[in-house]
Amino acid sequence: MTPARATVTLTVNGVARTLDVEPRETLLDVLRERLDLTGAKRACDRGECGACAVLVDGRPINACHVLALQVRGREVVTIEALAGRPEFQPILAAFIHHDAGQCGFCTPGFALAAHALLQRHPAASDALIRWELVGHICRCNAYDGLAAAVAAARDARKPS
Ligand code: FES
Ligand code: FES
Repeated sequence: MTPARATVTLTVNGVARTLDVEPRETLLDVLRERLDLTGAKRACDRGECGACAVLVDGRPINACHVLALQVRGREVVTIEALAGRPEFQPILAAFIHHDAGQCGFCTPGFALAAHALLQRHPAASDALIRWELVGHICRCNAYDGLAAAVAAARDARKPS
């Protein structure tokens, strides 16, 4: 039997997209398989590791855990677009400086989470930084470097 399909219109990295999807397709499916945006990684595929994080209306979500139909009309930003933004550059520099990525598979999710955290809490404490990164898993155990990088990005972004 041919699966039912539906039309979804959303904005991805500032570009309006209209897609014909199956109801079971996730936002991650659409980003990776239809739009060639592979910065959001597929790891657990069940909402537990944060590797697939993207911003929806400015808030971080796990794209594997949201159906494409659920983000109709919403604004999605992926790490590909975020990487070029001026406010993201301190995070990028701090991740490099603190060697926060080893295999790098988790890095886009952590970096996106760091951005979302520092947007909401520019003066986040070290404890809050660790707390907010809890939903992300790094199989290379780079947690200390990741937390240090986010703290360094916080300090670099502070107004002088
Ligand atoms: S791949 Fe989405 S949370 Fe793990
Ligand atoms: S750097 Fe390898 S999973 Fe985090």
